[in-house]
This record gives sequence, C-alpha cells and structure tokens, in this order.
Amino acid sequence: VAAAAAADIANLTGVGHHDIALTLGSGWAKAADLIGETVATIPATEVTGFSRPALEGHVGSLRSILLPGGKRALVIGARTHYYEGHGVRRVVHSVRTAAATGAKVMILTNGAGGIKPHWTPGTPVLISDHINLTFDSPLEGATFVDLTDLYSSRLRAIAKGIDPTLDEGVYTQFRGPHYETPAEVQMAKAIGGHIVGMSTALEAIAARQAGMEVLGMSLITNLAAGIQTSPLSHAEVLEAGRDAEPVISALLAQIVDAL
Ligand code: 6GU
Repeated sequence: VAAAAAADIANLTGVGHHDIALTLGSGWAKAADLIGETVATIPATEVTGFSRPALEGHVGSLRSILLPGGKRALVIGARTHYYEGHGVRRVVHSVRTAAATGAKVMILTNGAGGIKPHWTPGTPVLISDHINLTFDSPLEGATFVDLTDLYSSRLRAIAKGIDPTLDEGVYTQFRGPHYETPAEVQMAKAIGGHIVGMSTALEAIAARQAGMEVLGMSLITNLAAGIQTSPLSHAEVLEAGRDAEPVISALLAQIVDAL
C-alpha cells in the first residue's frame, strides 16, 4: 500500500524522490511555508490509503517542497490518529509512504500536554524517548526492531545547535481521545514520562522499522490534567497552537535547513 501511495505522490507532484519527510501536528503547520519552495500540493484523499482528515486543526494535504540546499521534503499535513479506531496500520501509513518515497529522515511533530510545570503553553520540547501506552505496535510477527536511540541523538544535537535552550522530554502516547485523568498523569510521571499525547510513538516505531532517522518535537499546548488546575479543552489546545505557530515554525525551518 505504501509503494502505491509513493507512486501516486510521484505522479501527482512530479517529484519521484524525497529526502526528508515531516508530519506537522497542531501548531506546526506554518513550517511548511518557511522551509522552502512548495512545488506541489495535493489533497491527501487522492493518495492511496489516506483517509479524510478527522479533526479541525489537521490539514489534509501533502506537499512537495524544494529546500534551499536542493533536497526535497515531503510535508504530511494529514495524520490519522490511533483514537480514530481504524487500526495501527492506518496510523503509520503516512510514515511508510514517506519511506517509500525515499525519505531517510522523518520529523514527527505534535501538540501535547506537559507534565513539567515550568513548560508554559507555547514551549517546544525535543522528544528524547517514548513510552508507548497504547501497548499496540505497527509491527507484526517476528519483527524485532531495536528502539535504542529511536529519537536520534544526532538530530537532537543539530536541533540544539539551532536553539541551545531547547528542553527534552519523554513522550508518553495514550490512546485518547479523552485526556488523561490526574491519576494517569501521575502514573506517566512516575514511570518516567514528561509529555502526554495521542500520536507519534507508533509512527516513530514504523519509521525506525523502515530504516529512517527520527526527530520528534512536541509543542506544549497546555499542562496535563492535575498539573494545571483548570479543565483541558481542545479549543485551548488549538489556541495555544495558533499563538506559538510563528515562533516554533521558524525554529523548525531552521532545523530542517541545518540537517
Ligand atoms: Cl493533556 N493529553 C494528551 N493525551 N494529549 C494532549 C494533551 C494532553 N494536551 C494536548 N494534547
């Protein structure tokens, strides 16, 4: 299915090979306008295996971008979330498609909740590792993939070279779509988590299986339940994303330029 999707992308964009791929989550979409020159934009629905965008704030298109240094980037603005209930294969289809276009680097971004109280909304955080609390896997059968250094220390060092103040944290992927209870947030903290979200971990596993190097970044849109005292809302998440978007998109564009 990924090979068919990559062929669709080649046909529809006229670009047969991409070097890097980016999935842009809540708050990160503007990076697509900043990293280079858009060569083609195609609706995700015209590409094999991509489903209709389920959520406000998630744009359903794919873009082929020519970077200043001559490399080609595929920007995936269409994420299928695990909580949509279509299964993990659909969740990682975009990552496998990116790999099939030739991409060797996968940049995964998201909007997420923070467990560290000093992470005010709008803070970008590098993902250093993850805890997969879906307990699902995109792999089937005897596929024993090593996940040491899944979130490439080489790529994290490049990002820190651009912004030395960038913090790092362990991303915990919950199934969602409900936010966590305060007790679940305390559990995530106790087992070593710093960020709570509903994406990325399963995608990163599929990227590693496909041989890609992964860079993960979260935009902290709010503090997790019980860390902040006010109730969480999707509107608040979107608003924090909109406010932070210019700054973090510019940061991401600089990182991509440095790869
Ligand atoms: Cl607090 N939890 C999860 N799972 N995802 C989020 C979030 C929290 N805030 C934004 N996205």
